[in-house]
Amino acid sequence: MDAALPAFISGSEAGIQQAAQLLQSGHCVAVPTETVYGLAGDAMNEAAVRQIFAIKSRPFIDPLIVHLHDFDQLHDLTQLNESQLTAARRLDEAFWPGPLTLVLPKHERVHDLVTANRDSVAIRRPAHPIMRKLLEASKLYLAAPSANPFGYISPTTAQHVRDSLNERCPHILDGGPCESGLESTIVDLREPERPILLRPGPIGKEMIESVLGVEVSLPAPTSDSSLAPGMLERHYSPTTRLLLHPAGQLPSVSEVEARIYLKRPPFSDGKHDYWLSESGELPEVAKNLFSLLRTLDALEGIQAIHCEQPPPGPGIANAIRDRLGRASKR
Ligand code: TXA
Ligand code: MG
Repeated sequence: MDAALPAFISGSEAGIQQAAQLLQSGHCVAVPTETVYGLAGDAMNEAAVRQIFAIKSRPFIDPLIVHLHDFDQLHDLTQLNESQLTAARRLDEAFWPGPLTLVLPKHERVHDLVTANRDSVAIRRPAHPIMRKLLEASKLYLAAPSANPFGYISPTTAQHVRDSLNERCPHILDGGPCESGLESTIVDLREPERPILLRPGPIGKEMIESVLGVEVSLPAPTSDSSLAPGMLERHYSPTTRLLLHPAGQLPSVSEVEARIYLKRPPFSDGKHDYWLSESGELPEVAKNLFSLLRTLDALEGIQAIHCEQPPPGPGIANAIRDRLGRASKR
């Protein structure tokens, strides 16, 4: 380990206490969640929130997700009418704690920095046991974007956070590799009769539709960026060029190119062949995707990465295609 870099904080009870104290005294701590690692700070502490933006080099126009422990804490952070509360409660019963973020009308006590001056706030109740214990021990609401430099691939291990934020983020709570490996599904629930899918993720649109009993629409392609400010065309991107191919149609490649298969090929003739899963199971593909992109991005002498895309499909297939699409944009 590089001596200049601090040790990880372990996910033990003592480690969680230490992280909780750091957060309570206004420091930022990178934290594990079931989706990706987040860069957490006390959502009610303006200086801590500013620090999150600074560490990530994130523009102030891109609002943060606030994480909470109990559903009832929603009342502290949002101002809901009856139908918004009913819809949120249904989704809570079905998917929380878990990889779902809801955009709701904000309570005035939520700082404008957190929401980038909008009148809505994004809320998530995460499932990772260490993150839940941390929320409980700290008694804080934690603002946490993914713990990567703005625009780069999200981190799914503590080491990824250290690799790309290094000394800018001295406190990293290690909770092992993230279970789902893709960021949460984001749904705008301000009009519960017309929910909008702002970001596809581990919880499929169809799953949300079946719980709410209404259709979930996609943001209109022409809609201005104020609806889904973080949904940039290019995002989650490796520095090395990424090229996408339909499954089963990877080209032959030169020595300076890598290939990514969705599942282990029966035989491979490439020097730089990699795969995202043994059997092609999409949850496994999702879990390994960002990690493999980071590994290949760091390889010397690789000038292009060719990757298979899963065919269009519900749920996680859609989320994987979304992330690959953005990661491959120049
Ligand atoms: O899985 C996740 O959601 C992870 C973990 C750490 O919880 N967090 C995450 O945060 O992915 P971040 O900041 O990387 O992505 C959050 C997205 C951004 O695109 C942001 O623009 C959008 O949520 N967002 C936040 N607040 C919003 C709001 N009030 N209205 C619309 N979009 C919002
Ligand atoms: Mg992010």
